[in-house]
Amino acid sequence: MKNFQLKNPTKIIFGKDQLSKMAAEIPKDSKVLMLYGGGSIKKNGIYDNVKAAMEGFEIEEFGGIPANPEYDILLQALKVIKEKDITFLLSVGGGSVIDGTKFLSAAALFEGDEPWDILTKSKRTMTGMPFGTVLTLPATGSEMNSGAVITRKETKEKRTMGGPGLFPEFSVLDPEVIKSIPKRQLANGLADSFTHVTEQYLTYPVGALLQDRFAESILQTLVDIAPKIMEEDFNYEAASNFMWCCTMALNGLINKGVPSDWATHMMGHELTALYGIDHARTLAIIAGNHYTHNFDDKKEKLAQYAERVWDVREGTTEEKARIGITKTTEFYQSLGIDTKLSAYTESYDGTAEIISKRFEERGWMKLGERQNVSPSDVEEIVKMSY
Ligand code: NZQ
Ligand code: ZN
Repeated sequence: MKNFQLKNPTKIIFGKDQLSKMAAEIPKDSKVLMLYGGGSIKKNGIYDNVKAAMEGFEIEEFGGIPANPEYDILLQALKVIKEKDITFLLSVGGGSVIDGTKFLSAAALFEGDEPWDILTKSKRTMTGMPFGTVLTLPATGSEMNSGAVITRKETKEKRTMGGPGLFPEFSVLDPEVIKSIPKRQLANGLADSFTHVTEQYLTYPVGALLQDRFAESILQTLVDIAPKIMEEDFNYEAASNFMWCCTMALNGLINKGVPSDWATHMMGHELTALYGIDHARTLAIIAGNHYTHNFDDKKEKLAQYAERVWDVREGTTEEKARIGITKTTEFYQSLGIDTKLSAYTESYDGTAEIISKRFEERGWMKLGERQNVSPSDVEEIVKMSY
């Protein structure tokens, strides 16, 4: 096992009807900015419930943060923060609204002229304006981690940021929010959280027995509940397990003491930036091809995964590992997710070259857990995904 440090300061308030507990977590003299997305919270009642829970606070609002939170729109929210002397951010939404809030938390205290530098000059953000979240869509784990991904349409870029200053103070996780989520987004949540685990698990063995079991238990739970989430109207037990899996998949626990990959995400982000494909779907397009391309480096963990998650008992390490890859692709497909780029865009020709050139320009020469996935490997993997 590798050396590690672990600190996660986010308080989780989990369960049905827990929203009223939120007020006690926010300093009473705060000037709060409530941030939300395109309006789903107004239809499903979450907006009214949050307003009721926040009674007595001085509160401003900023709605309209889109999926894949857009830099230009976030700059408008930043203006409100400055003009209204906001001191606390309350994020009500899925990963996009929460990530947008993290950007604003950093940007509110940023001293340079161009807040985009927060995303491109790769410094870890050590301090931010305090914020809490009310999660409306289980998927990203953003509610209990300190990372964010921000999109800039103008340049077709999607970049990551983060640091210890960007953990939410608290997150309210009510599994009942799942009732109003469209199937497409539920499938995305299952696929995204599944891939968060594989990014931190399908690497190479380092004798981290407990971390492997943590990862496998999340994967197994997601596989078990997926049909209930996708096919049944609403099942509280499945919904609560789904929500907790998504949080645990990316709150910094399962990656402690083990190598992490994240190359699938880095390639996937480019597909969203170029074609607007939902984040989770980009991962489904890339993952299996990435594992196939880097088969020799990953085969031991792939075989262990096939055995323990998919109950593949027969065959050599290589045979089991190959079945593990097939099972992964079939899992995405079982959620109704297409795993080929050509299913999403007709103009996929040249995508691989664009992405590998971007990585080269950014100096991303060594991705993956062994730091050996070069831009030319990226080009091949993306081509395999057409
Ligand atoms: O905008 P509204 O109207 O709220 O609608 C949203 C949006 O259209 C809707 N929705 C959310 N909760 C709902 C609901 N509809 C009905 N009922 C509800 N209760 O769902 C749509 C998608 O929302 P979004 O927040 O974009 O989805 P998700 O949570 O999947 O977030 C995706 C973003 O997170 C980033 C992705 O790159 C992408 O930008 N990620 C963030 C990570 C992190 N911070 O750790 C890690 C991930 O790997 C990922 O990259
Ligand atoms: Zn993801």
